[in-house]
Amino acid sequence: MIVLDGKAVAAQMRAEIRAEVENIRARGGRLPGLTVIVVGEDPASQVYVRNKERACAEVGFASQVIRLPETTAQERLLGIIDDLNADPAVDGILLQLPLPRGLDTQKCLIRIAAHKDVDGFHPENMGRLVQGLPGLRPCTPAGVMELLRRYDITCAGKHAVVVGRSTIVGKPMALMLLEAHATVTVCHSRTPDLGAITRQADILVAAVGMPCLIREDMVAEGAVVVDVGINRTEAGLVGDCDYPALTPKAAAMTPVPGGVGPMTIAMLLANTLTAYRQHSVSRF
Ligand code: GUN
Repeated sequence: MIVLDGKAVAAQMRAEIRAEVENIRARGGRLPGLTVIVVGEDPASQVYVRNKERACAEVGFASQVIRLPETTAQERLLGIIDDLNADPAVDGILLQLPLPRGLDTQKCLIRIAAHKDVDGFHPENMGRLVQGLPGLRPCTPAGVMELLRRYDITCAGKHAVVVGRSTIVGKPMALMLLEAHATVTVCHSRTPDLGAITRQADILVAAVGMPCLIREDMVAEGAVVVDVGINRTEAGLVGDCDYPALTPKAAAMTPVPGGVGPMTIAMLLANTLTAYRQHSVSRF
């Protein structure tokens, strides 16, 4: 079985991005800038934001984190987003989710200028994905596609099964696989006999957040398995797939950790560079 080593591929991508930033610096250009906003003290969010901060520093972006108290009013957050939209030094804006209770996530996300929406969550970018137009794509599914590409795993003509229908992963994942000419089936919590469908998958993407949901008997011999799940259990971090049980059957599989997670952050950097490039020319 081939281990789809997201950690190594992400490091390679960061090296490529760092080289491009070095070029910009050598020419005396303005550096790409990402601003991350985090509201409140959610412990998982704090970890994710620190990782994003570290990745930005590694590639040489001019980045900042705006940390706001749990009690931040909606209007104040919208005002900060407006200021960042207008700031020419800011190419990308990322609002870390989830927001504390009392803040309207949709209202905030839609306020981010679509051309600075490096998360790809703005309805305009989602709409562009549906229509096959260029735009900023959500980082996790874009990271999965990049990982498959770099391992020369083609999607055209394959049956791709996506388990999960979230706005952040499952839905855009299905659309990107479709764009890559796969035949796509989306399963979710109301799908009866999940295994009967996952067994048909040439490419199986699990993105539900249920530890070891995908067992050995649910996967076909020779399938490519992509595990997007990150579940904190007593046994440590585990994915949505029973990794040791699937190892003899899968042709290729992502580990957890070290698979999709690092690719998500690498794609955030790639999206920021795309937004930077689009900033001074006509947008998309
Ligand atoms: N919280 C968990 N994952 C994500 C993500 O990809 N983007 C944002 N903004 N918040 C998150």
